[in-house]
Amino acid sequence: MFGPRRHALALLPVAALLAGCDKTQNALAPESHQAKDIASLFWWMMGGAWIGLALIVGLLFLSWRRRGTAGPGNRKPDEKAAWRVVIVLGIVTPIVVIAAIFVIGDLFVIKSTEAPAAGSTRLTVEVIGHTWWWEVRYPGSPAVTANELHIPVGTPVRLEVRTDDVIHSFWVPRLNRTIDAIPGRTNSIELYADAPGRYRGQCDEFCGLQHAHMAFYVYADPPAAFRRWLAHQAQPVAASPPRLFATAGCADCHALRGTDAKSGVGPDLTHVGSRATLAALTITNDKAELEDWILHNQEIKPGNEMPDIQISRAQAAALAAYLEGLK
Ligand code: CUA
Repeated sequence: MFGPRRHALALLPVAALLAGCDKTQNALAPESHQAKDIASLFWWMMGGAWIGLALIVGLLFLSWRRRGTAGPGNRKPDEKAAWRVVIVLGIVTPIVVIAAIFVIGDLFVIKSTEAPAAGSTRLTVEVIGHTWWWEVRYPGSPAVTANELHIPVGTPVRLEVRTDDVIHSFWVPRLNRTIDAIPGRTNSIELYADAPGRYRGQCDEFCGLQHAHMAFYVYADPPAAFRRWLAHQAQPVAASPPRLFATAGCADCHALRGTDAKSGVGPDLTHVGSRATLAALTITNDKAELEDWILHNQEIKPGNEMPDIQISRAQAAALAAYLEGLK
């Protein structure tokens, strides 16, 4: 009745679960020395927990096997040995294990994740959390971007995180631990990537309706490519906007560097066409999706701060065509 086919069927949910675990945001697929320290601490704790569980289950099994052996005529249970087990396994072992985890976690793992001192690195990146998107600034450069940030590979970067509104938390699981964005504070962490690539990040502190749609990409580029990218992003807008950009109200919230549109309420659009996604990784960035976003953003990402704009589809198409041209 339980043929091999049955067993294979029983494994289907497990296979489906594993298939969902790609590496894009997997803290156990680390790609920096910080994330590797965190992952190995996890595996050591996991291994220890399994050993502990096996020991307890073994002792339970042993006591069940020996049940009912005390009593008249039988050997009395050895109370001293029982107390020794309680003291060693119940008191001494937990104190030693927890103290060891505290020392290793605090002195080594947390230390390795911390930000390099201000001024000690060649690059600082500022990230500002907004409901529900991320603003990215590069001190010393006019470049401002949103929901994606680039860093040079193999280079320690000091990342400074703050918030414009509520508490958010910046987390790129494959690169480092989380760092909270707390109102009135600037927190910092080191951002470092061993290998070039695109790493997905996610807000890790519930911050309202669209918390789940507050994701971002970190691109680790070869240093020369990074310098080219930053120099390009620093340039002002390539073509002046159509009048519609001001009359439809876009300029009230969005900046186009080099024009009169200077507001910082919404994402800077100077190079919006160069980004991979829109609305903090909610939709891909192409002309059709952007047109849809301009017309129906409250259906795509309900509650976001962009108002419904009363313009025609043809006008939205014209705006989308202009914005997509801003590479
Ligand atoms: Cu921002 Cu959750």
